[in-house]
Amino acid sequence: MTPHVSISDLAQHVGQTVTLKGWLYNSRSSGKLRFLLIRDGSGLCQCVVFKKDVSEDTFAAADALTQESSVEVTGTVRAEPRSPGGYELGVSEVQTIHLSHDFPITPKEHGVEFLADRRHLWIRSSRQQAILRVRHTLMKAIHDFFDSRGFLRFDAPIFTPAACEGTSTLFETPYFDEGSAYLTQSGQLYGEAGALAFGKVYVFGPVFRAEKSKTRKHLTEFWMVEPEVAFCDLEQDMDLMEEFLEHLVQTCLRERRPELELLERDIAALEQVQRPFPRIHYDEAVRLLNEELGEPMTWGDDFGAPHETALGNHFAPRPVMIHDWPVEVKAFYFKRTADGKYARGCDVIAPEGFGEIIGGGQREDDYDALLARIEEHKLPREAFDWYLDLRKYGSVPHAGFGLGVERTVAYICGIPHVRETLPFPRMMGRLTP
Ligand code: 4AD
Ligand code: MG
Repeated sequence: MTPHVSISDLAQHVGQTVTLKGWLYNSRSSGKLRFLLIRDGSGLCQCVVFKKDVSEDTFAAADALTQESSVEVTGTVRAEPRSPGGYELGVSEVQTIHLSHDFPITPKEHGVEFLADRRHLWIRSSRQQAILRVRHTLMKAIHDFFDSRGFLRFDAPIFTPAACEGTSTLFETPYFDEGSAYLTQSGQLYGEAGALAFGKVYVFGPVFRAEKSKTRKHLTEFWMVEPEVAFCDLEQDMDLMEEFLEHLVQTCLRERRPELELLERDIAALEQVQRPFPRIHYDEAVRLLNEELGEPMTWGDDFGAPHETALGNHFAPRPVMIHDWPVEVKAFYFKRTADGKYARGCDVIAPEGFGEIIGGGQREDDYDALLARIEEHKLPREAFDWYLDLRKYGSVPHAGFGLGVERTVAYICGIPHVRETLPFPRMMGRLTP
């Protein structure tokens, strides 16, 4: 029995005879040689079958392998700079586990709907694997960042009694005698309870938005990480956003360079994502758009995709932080400036057209002001009684934000559409596979 080794560990086995267990990614032949490109999930390895070195059965098995057939390949590991991972296998034995028939995704170009319908198979391709590995590293970097700074992970419920981010994007579902439940749009309100209990928390999980827009940035189910901090104002919140985003980008750059290179990401641009990021007032953003960037807009509106792209590109390669927004644009829970004109929120816009990746700000901590806001927005008072309690028992200034994982993965990988940034995307018009 030769040891079973992962392709990613081949460096430690040079000169040894090992077994790889995986699938045929690709193959080619040349005279008495067969080159099998094997993937095992950890990487790709070229396996060279030389007719005179193997039994007839093994050579025939190598010849018969079809794309995505499962296989065990035994051989000797040698360094080979031209092999994808830097090592290749001089094959002594090939054992077919299962022959695949007509794998639908071939090396030729396919339409994106064709691929999306076969997402369960598409995730076997090198590009998709590179993206999902960056996602994995990003998820871990998120946990590491907060864990090493004393934040407690605080899980919010997915069934909720009311809207957090506006009623137009709520998914509703029947809930026993209680009537309707709504799939959470954001764990923030629960995160605020956590912050007033533990000081610093982060909520991290899937959130749901019934987005009726078919854009390259909108999913109906996506992952959001939401830190929330007691005794924190907008300025300190922006410091945290900046430090966090720098950490995420630099960690992915450090740990996933081969993947980013495979994706042909402009790495120099990411290297420059270093603090401080530019901070501009909403009014200044509107002035820039109207007077310098040729993307006119009306004061008091939210930015559309072209505005975000123009602003993002203007400040590239760093993300830009836009703070203090007209109250009409922002949700009910924002703290306002003393004149009541601006919501103390901040959006972080990524360069290169990736748009808003962070939204957050300081929360209203005054009971009467918050109650008035809930009534203005015609939100069901009873569902917010517990939230109002947080302003009754030791209220403090507090702030937080939400970062969308998929938009961040798209930005770091430099891929235009969020549908490739998670294993099984859910969007308007897509519920399968
Ligand atoms: O700006 P949003 O709506 O903020 C909140 O939900 C706050 N409650 C967060 C907080 O302060 N705790 O969403 C935050 C981020 C956006 O910046 C974006 O990255 C992402 O979530 N996002 C989406 N990502 C994919 N598809 C969608 N439909 C998204 N909507 C928001
Ligand atoms: Mg937002």
